Amino acid sequence: MTRVLVLNGPNLGRLGVREPEVYGSATLADLESAATAWGSELGLDVVVRQTDDEAEIIGWVHEAVDSGAHVVLNPAAFTHYSYALRDAAAQITTAGLLLVEVHLSNPLAREDFRHVSVIGPVATGTVAGFGLESYRLALQAVAARLPG
Ligand code: DQA
Repeated sequence: MTRVLVLNGPNLGRLGVREPEVYGSATLADLESAATAWGSELGLDVVVRQTDDEAEIIGWVHEAVDSGAHVVLNPAAFTHYSYALRDAAAQITTAGLLLVEVHLSNPLAREDFRHVSVIGPVATGTVAGFGLESYRLALQAVAARLPG
């Protein structure tokens, strides 16, 4: 089965309690069960992970590249400044794999510092602004681009 790593960056472990008016009331556990269920419907083997650590998320991106897994990535605040994560993420599409950048909120409708994504230019595409649905749309986009 096609494997998809759904990787989440800093503070996303706080979903449900962190600014629910921006990020919604669903928890990371809710995200994990929803994404896994959507993956099953789409024929994808979905694994959801979250870390606050830049080195750890970069290691997971390397793992995806080396194992041939597609990636749905919510880089959280790393979106806006982590050239290290960007350099790692660039290897995903170079390897012929899909990278979908996702955001719960719409960063372009928020503070100026959120208007820049250093990840977007190396992604296959971006889905933002639809809450948990952003992840479902990202998984659908991956499934739609698979051969056969
Ligand atoms: C976020 C948007 C980022 O600007 C922010 O730093 C996050 C979450 C989102 O999912 O809307 O932590 O990536």
